[in-house]
Amino acid sequence: MEGSLLYVSRRLASPADVQDIVSASRVRNARLQVTGALVACEDRFAQILEGPRPGVDALMDSISRDRRHADVDVLLYDDIERRRFPGWSLAYSGASVFVDGLIRALADRPSSEPDPHHLRRLINIMQEFARAVD
Ligand SMILES: Cc1cc2nc3c(=O)[nH]c(=O)nc-3n(C[C@H](O)[C@H](O)[C@H](O)COP(=O)(O)O)c2cc1C
Repeated sequence: MEGSLLYVSRRLASPADVQDIVSASRVRNARLQVTGALVACEDRFAQILEGPRPGVDALMDSISRDRRHADVDVLLYDDIERRRFPGWSLAYSGASVFVDGLIRALADRPSSEPDPHHLRRLINIMQEFARAVD
């Protein structure tokens, strides 16, 4: 069974860094048969990676060591029956102040468990963005 991972992090990347990340990611993700989406807000990232767990794990190993962000916080890593971003090696969107606030609420949550309503809302928004740039 495949896995789907969602993390949030604190962005340290410039706009040019983000472009480099997206173009390099599309090649490597396709090679690993991983699909997903990245949202880059002014000071936060959220990313979903889905596919065979060895591929997702290899990517997360690189991503968690990347100095272009900090405070990488994995909120979910579930088994999935069906991918949310089947056509996307990496759907990318710059995002709104609203999404920034939502990611911040998840990152700065009071307990170790993320609020399921916030999680659902973030995932839905990432899917909407992916459709919008289809
Ligand atoms: C927010 C963020 C998201 C990233 N997403 C991906 C990704 O989906 N796929 C990918 O190959 N690299 C991604 N990267 C880049 C990796 O961290 C890493 O630089 C790249 O995979 C090369 O891996 P290596 O340094 O282990 O050779 C991301 C980096 C950041 C900061």
